[in-house]
Amino acid sequence: MIALASMSPTAGAADDTVKVGVLLELSGPFAAQAKQISNGVNAYIKAHGDHVAGKKIEVVFKDTTGPAPDLAKRLAQELVTRDKVSFLAGFVLTPNAMAVAPVATEAKVPTIIMNAATSAITTKSPYIARVSFTLPQVTAPIAEWAAKNQLKKVYTLVSDYGPGNDAEATFKKVFSEKGGQVVGSVKVPLKNPEFAPFIQRIKDAKPEAVFIFVPAGEASVGFMKAFAERGLAKAGIKLIGTGDLMDDDVLPAMGDASLDVITTHQYSAAHKSPENNAFKKAYADVAGPDKRPNFMAVGGWDGMQVIYEVVGKLHGKIDGDQAMQVIKGLVIKSPRGTISIDPATRDVVQDVYVRKVEKVGGQLFKGGCFCLPYQIDNVHELPTVEIKRSYQTISVGEFDTNKAKRELGFNPGPVEGALKRAVDWFRDNGYV
Ligand code: PHB
Repeated sequence: MIALASMSPTAGAADDTVKVGVLLELSGPFAAQAKQISNGVNAYIKAHGDHVAGKKIEVVFKDTTGPAPDLAKRLAQELVTRDKVSFLAGFVLTPNAMAVAPVATEAKVPTIIMNAATSAITTKSPYIARVSFTLPQVTAPIAEWAAKNQLKKVYTLVSDYGPGNDAEATFKKVFSEKGGQVVGSVKVPLKNPEFAPFIQRIKDAKPEAVFIFVPAGEASVGFMKAFAERGLAKAGIKLIGTGDLMDDDVLPAMGDASLDVITTHQYSAAHKSPENNAFKKAYADVAGPDKRPNFMAVGGWDGMQVIYEVVGKLHGKIDGDQAMQVIKGLVIKSPRGTISIDPATRDVVQDVYVRKVEKVGGQLFKGGCFCLPYQIDNVHELPTVEIKRSYQTISVGEFDTNKAKRELGFNPGPVEGALKRAVDWFRDNGYV
């Protein structure tokens, strides 16, 4: 094993390059998600060129093969000592990100989390910053939405590891504070979950709804298949969850079982903004014309955006501490809307949207209809959520707000405030 003490911090790559080590689960059960991130990284570089401040940006991808913390740590050590990377980045999965934290600290290498979403990750090293999301951040809004929409009894099902624990704890806290009752909770294994028996147990408990967090990909598809087969929707049990369940990448494959499912998350491919249009075009250029980016691809794109900002602001000479100073408080225009990095926690501050899956032009999308953005300012404490802004995106030719009021808790206020918020939104999203 390579001793941490022998690591030399950054600056060692050839003078005319800045190297970025990207650790991803490129083979194994999370390969499709890792590919979304690597496509997002490559799309950013293709769209913006591979030179910043006179330096060539060189990305070195390493395959962690799945949840494999020991391997992730060893690969990170190699990237630092042998490849002399100035940045580490990547991580679909929490256990891999956690394992790399001591390497980031020891070598003072800025490390950008492009997906892994357990809230504690950024507390594990002062050299970690996150552009993706945290589970408390995206779970609190759906818990509040559920309580506001007359759901009183909800069962929870989560994956049994960091993000699932965060999701379950946040849902229970916020939903019960708002008057709801969690009538049962179950945790399923991260590897090869067998959903059918758990789903039968939920059906027998007769809740009004079931709240789900499972990592996007095979688990979300597996859950939806079992949900449809066991006839929960027919038994009147609604499905709510974080947007990982209705991942844009796999949504088209889920079929009509996903219609009307309500989820909360930071990105939808249906989001309307000039930044998202440019992103989707760049993504299709590297991934192929029929490929739809998901929230992980956005993480890869925005992670590179942060790295390009740092390289530019430091004129190509990367020092770990100075890099973190640039990252703290950074504001960037993401395909999901404007985001920033909280200077105190190095975590992402962003809007979280409540979305319903609908068919748009014959294809399944979340957010074809209404979006109620939530601004979460503090992502570390289990947050109390407040709707700071609310607006509608209008689906093809539809101007009636009754559906939004009925189904998503849309609550229009005085026209002056609404106009100001609308103008702010158009400005933030680059329309004016
Ligand atoms: C995580 O391991 O942190 C993780 C993975 C997939 C998701 C969300 C979180 O969809």
